[in-house]
Amino acid sequence: MKSIELNNAILTHIKKTKEVGHYLWERQWAERNGGNISIFLEDIEDQLPKTIDDFRYVGNRNFPKESAGLSFFVTGTGERLRDLREPEFSSCIIRIDDNAAGYHILWGGQKDNFRPTSEFITHLKVHLDMKKNGRDSKAIVHTHPIELIALSHHPEYNKNRYKFTENLWKMLPEVRAFTPNGIDLVKYELPGSEALADLTVKSLRDHDVAVWEKHGAIAAGKTVIEAFDYIDVANKGAIIFLKCLAAGFEPEGMSKKQMDEIAAIL
Ligand code: 13P
Ligand code: ZN
Repeated sequence: MKSIELNNAILTHIKKTKEVGHYLWERQWAERNGGNISIFLEDIEDQLPKTIDDFRYVGNRNFPKESAGLSFFVTGTGERLRDLREPEFSSCIIRIDDNAAGYHILWGGQKDNFRPTSEFITHLKVHLDMKKNGRDSKAIVHTHPIELIALSHHPEYNKNRYKFTENLWKMLPEVRAFTPNGIDLVKYELPGSEALADLTVKSLRDHDVAVWEKHGAIAAGKTVIEAFDYIDVANKGAIIFLKCLAAGFEPEGMSKKQMDEIAAIL
């Protein structure tokens, strides 16, 4: 199978992706094939051979027009993130063709019927929106963090997006400080759907983490490590919140004044 040579920048991205895959597995956020990761590879064009017709092509897609010609590193559907030790089998680099009607697999995906994650439409639309808005967040992590998901089942707290952020921020100064744009709750939509993609795009425009109700969480960062950190910090808030409830009391939470003090020094 034809494959491009990877430059140092891409190799570093893959190394960090493996590191994050390991963290997700350790935290029990990556059962079986749970979760997926992508990175927008903006500057790969000049590394491509003159013709890419010999690379494996998957067509019959209907990607947003503005994605034509863009390249991404992305994990495969059904793949175990704990298996990113061998990324050439469990992930790939694709280039969307000039008509946004399909993609070439430039690297990886070395198994029969390999396909990018079923959540690729969400990853793609978020990448396009970040690009359009001049944001330099090129890495996206979707995972299944236990406590954020548990809290998204809460019959009271899953009704109010503002309260959802507020309750998590109040649990620990670090949560307020390191998710400064908040942790949003996106109402349940079918995994892999355009509807979920569109709600996620809107949510990540002005929040650091989007929690998919009764499913998982997704965040974008300059690197996969940064994207992971947003979810990790948010989940810490959820752990503390739920531990207090499990101990039989509603957490008092930091006061508004204490939170405003932190916001003022950010
Ligand atoms: P994929 O195996 O297609 O990446 O799906 C995992 C997942 O978490 C779906 O939301
Ligand atoms: Zn998922």
